[in-house]
Amino acid sequence: MNYSSNFFFLCLTISTHVVSCIPIGRIRQSSVLVENKLYFFGSDNDGHKTDNIYLEVIPSSLDINQPKWTDLTQNAQTPSRSPFASACLGGANRDIIFLLGHLDPNNSVTNYTIVYALNTTSQIWSNIHVNGSLPLSRQQFQAVGEFKAATSVVVNDIFIFVSLNLNWIKGPALNASPARVDFSATLLNIGLILYLGSTNASDNSNYNIHAIPAYNTNTNDWMYMPIVSDFIPASRNGHSAVLSPDGFVIVYGGNGINTCVFEALVVLDTNVSPYKWYNKSIIGTNIPSRLVYHTASMIGSHMILVLW
Ligand SMILES: *[C@@H]1O[C@H](CO)[C@@H](O)[C@H](O)[C@H]1NC(C)=O
Ligand SMILES: *[C@@H]1O[C@H](CO)[C@@H](O)[C@H](O)[C@H]1NC(C)=O
Ligand SMILES: *[C@@H]1O[C@H](CO)[C@@H](O)[C@H](O)[C@H]1NC(C)=O
Ligand SMILES: *[C@@H]1O[C@H](CO)[C@@H](O)[C@H](O)[C@H]1NC(C)=O
Ligand SMILES: *[C@@H]1O[C@H](CO)[C@@H](O)[C@H](O)[C@H]1NC(C)=O
Ligand SMILES: *[C@@H]1O[C@H](CO)[C@@H](O)[C@H](O)[C@H]1NC(C)=O
Repeated sequence: MNYSSNFFFLCLTISTHVVSCIPIGRIRQSSVLVENKLYFFGSDNDGHKTDNIYLEVIPSSLDINQPKWTDLTQNAQTPSRSPFASACLGGANRDIIFLLGHLDPNNSVTNYTIVYALNTTSQIWSNIHVNGSLPLSRQQFQAVGEFKAATSVVVNDIFIFVSLNLNWIKGPALNASPARVDFSATLLNIGLILYLGSTNASDNSNYNIHAIPAYNTNTNDWMYMPIVSDFIPASRNGHSAVLSPDGFVIVYGGNGINTCVFEALVVLDTNVSPYKWYNKSIIGTNIPSRLVYHTASMIGSHMILVLW
């Protein structure tokens, strides 16, 4: 594996007390990359933020000590407080951010998943009406993909949001992954969505990550990806996962049982069959702490972690 040689690790750990232009702190936000802008929505900390910010992320010019934030709140305030929501990119031109959540504009909990759309060109939000098989209200789930968003929740259902005609389709239940919360969902280039980690609601343990449930977006069915590996990472929830351009799922951080996971950086090789896990050491400067409930994005060959 020639992986670590081209691997850069950036971390934006920002003290809100140092520089006044830095956005107010948050956790459990969602984020979406649109061209070179990383948009952030929602927060679960004090006051449930409704600000709408983005970070310029051009790896060659990104200064992690003074990241360039832009606050769009004045012209495009997020329509609802949206902690625990999930966001993804869609639309015919891939310029619409869909924010899927469980709060209406008055911050009342809805009984079905509510969809807001941000036109990133006009910076105008709209509360859109989606037809089809409405997913029940949910939080701590994941939407992935560009034209498709698959969501899976404490119940183990999966829904496909077709952003081109604003329609919900209920996905298959047969062989579905166990019910999940605070997991990661990673879309591979071949169209599989891999589900990693979760709290086990039955006994407050975490699901192990020995065999990985996968939803196949091509065939609309569930399968398990076997793993043969000497090293198996500690089970976790509240971690992040991104796909590297060369087919590795990079998993960072998360909660173990009553503590942050010890092996903070682990990597799944999806180029081999069966898949294989690797334990990576973290080298360099700016080494992040063991994060939970952060966001991670793959930008070029950089994984960018954001937390406050
Ligand atoms: C929000 O509250 C206002 C004032 O009570 C009400 O007029 C409006 O219909 C509510 N909107 C929604 C989406 O429930
Ligand atoms: C949500 O509640 C409304 C009003 O009670 C009801 O008409 C609607 O069928 C419910 N939707 C779902 C998905 O349960
Ligand atoms: C987004 O906004 C731009 C600029 O106002 C507009 O031209 C475009 O049609 C909008 N996109 C959608 C899908 O509404
Ligand atoms: C959604 O359903 C409503 C009511 O059946 C219909 O009027 C509307 O045209 C549909 N929208 C789309 C985008 O299909
Ligand atoms: C969750 O915990 C229960 C009780 O210990 C166990 O029976 C079940 O297999 C666990 N689920 C998974 C997916 O690990
Ligand atoms: C994983 O790597 C970390 C950092 O190098 C190391 O401390 C830890 O012991 C490794 N775990 C295993 C199971 O090899």
